[in-house]
Amino acid sequence: MNKLAAAVFCAVLYSRVVAALPVGDDSHATPVSSVSSSPSITVALGEGAVATTTSGDAVLPSPTVPYASDDPNYWLWNETTMEDPEPIRGSLGGSILGPQNVPIDKQNPDLLAAPTTDNGDVGNAKWPFGLSKNRLVSGGWIRTQNVEQMPLAKAMAGANIRLEPGAIRELHWHNVAEWAYVLEGSTQITSVDQLGRNYVATVNKGDLWYFPPGIPHSLQATNDSAIGTEFLLIFPSGTFGDDNTFLLTDWLAHTPKEVIAKNFQNSIEDWDQIPSRDLYIFPGVALPSDQKPPFDPNGQIPQPFFFEFSKVKPTQYSGETVKIADSTTFPISTEIAVSEVTVEPGAMRAMHWHPTQDEWGLFLEGTARATIYAASGNAQTFDYQPGDISYVPTGWGHYIENTGNTTLRFLEIFNTDRFEDVSLEQWLALTPPALVKQHLQLSDNTIAKFNKTKNYVVGPNKSS
Ligand SMILES: *[C@@H]1O[C@H](CO)[C@@H](O)[C@H](O)[C@H]1NC(C)=O
Ligand SMILES: *[C@@H]1O[C@H](CO)[C@@H](O)[C@H](O)[C@H]1NC(C)=O
Ligand SMILES: *[C@@H]1O[C@H](CO)[C@@H](O)[C@H](O)[C@H]1NC(C)=O
Ligand SMILES: *[C@@H]1O[C@H](CO)[C@@H](O)[C@H](O)[C@H]1NC(C)=O
Repeated sequence: MNKLAAAVFCAVLYSRVVAALPVGDDSHATPVSSVSSSPSITVALGEGAVATTTSGDAVLPSPTVPYASDDPNYWLWNETTMEDPEPIRGSLGGSILGPQNVPIDKQNPDLLAAPTTDNGDVGNAKWPFGLSKNRLVSGGWIRTQNVEQMPLAKAMAGANIRLEPGAIRELHWHNVAEWAYVLEGSTQITSVDQLGRNYVATVNKGDLWYFPPGIPHSLQATNDSAIGTEFLLIFPSGTFGDDNTFLLTDWLAHTPKEVIAKNFQNSIEDWDQIPSRDLYIFPGVALPSDQKPPFDPNGQIPQPFFFEFSKVKPTQYSGETVKIADSTTFPISTEIAVSEVTVEPGAMRAMHWHPTQDEWGLFLEGTARATIYAASGNAQTFDYQPGDISYVPTGWGHYIENTGNTTLRFLEIFNTDRFEDVSLEQWLALTPPALVKQHLQLSDNTIAKFNKTKNYVVGPNKSS
């Protein structure tokens, strides 16, 4: 058979296959058989592949499965909607007859009435800090999240800590690194490294600190303002918890006093008033914000443990911004990278994935939804409010859409030295168009408009 004959034969065979294909049970889906209604000629692509061309457009490949539904699958309500939400989407679902926690349902439209594109099992990718048990102490509080709350979150754990002016998170160390973002106020940090070099800095709102694994440190709210401080801590280990910290007072309370006195070559009486148990967080007297560390014959820590992230100029997209801090700008931070993103109403953090690292997120302002695609047809949509944690494992595709009418602001945090992501649009823009076309049956014009420059955030859709 010559090529043309083969193509015609295949086309005949194909039209029979199409006629026999089930249309699918989604009533919104365009039936495959409608393809044959558009005027088309058939050309051979070689090796038995067949493609049709429609007027105006070049080669269009042959569909082998029904088209996806055109249903936009918007979120169906928000927190200000007056009516009680019902798990109904189009012809699917039914009202709730039993008890209902209305505020929770209002916050989670995409759990109660999921987009029809959601499927299978993804695991829980939302944890509000407000559902963590809060430990109240004299001088502040601490609440934490790790794999116990979110089994997906294997690579990082978080803590949210509040210190009143002068309050101290006592001198301690742990076997994993500690990264922090100051949410409010300012925090004074101190440290001494393994070579005996010391460090003191005051870290302000929107700024970061980082301590490498095992390096001792303390955190204290300054009295620069009446509010004290609140910050987010991230540990690059999903199982990290309070039990894994080594505290100065805890150690000494559990060491024979004879040994303490021998260690420091003084008398037991000198240690009369040390605490009998750990202090953990306790009220204290703030030291001057600009205080210098004591004279250190060993010198100062060469790479700062503190980074003025608040002073980094964000990259501006159409009404949206992104700024990144990783070891390229904050060299000591070799295990944590962060991207702080703002998204205006109607806009979206574009569809992407992170090739090598899990993402731990904290929502700071506004409301959002994200669909997390976990391969093999598994996808689930979650809604987020300020104070919520999100988690996306390595490689899982996602977007983050502003669902409100105010600016959405969030942190994306990774256990890596370099921020990295792969953009869906850039990938498709830089792949041979004929190949993209054979997957998605898009017009040449649509493909030609894909942007070859990576856009982290895309604006409201002006074409729909
Ligand atoms: C803050 O603490 C410093 C150092 O202890 C002290 O000199 C200063 O008066 C305090 N400021 C306020 C507003 O309490
Ligand atoms: C919330 O939903 C209502 C409709 O129930 C809509 O009128 C309003 O604009 C929405 N608010 C936001 C912030 O999207
Ligand atoms: C935002 O939405 C809320 C509730 O839907 C409404 O009360 C408020 O006026 C809106 N704000 C703006 C700036 O549109
Ligand atoms: C592609 O994105 C870049 C960066 O946001 C933007 O400057 C440019 O205008 C975009 N190009 C097109 C054709 O949309």
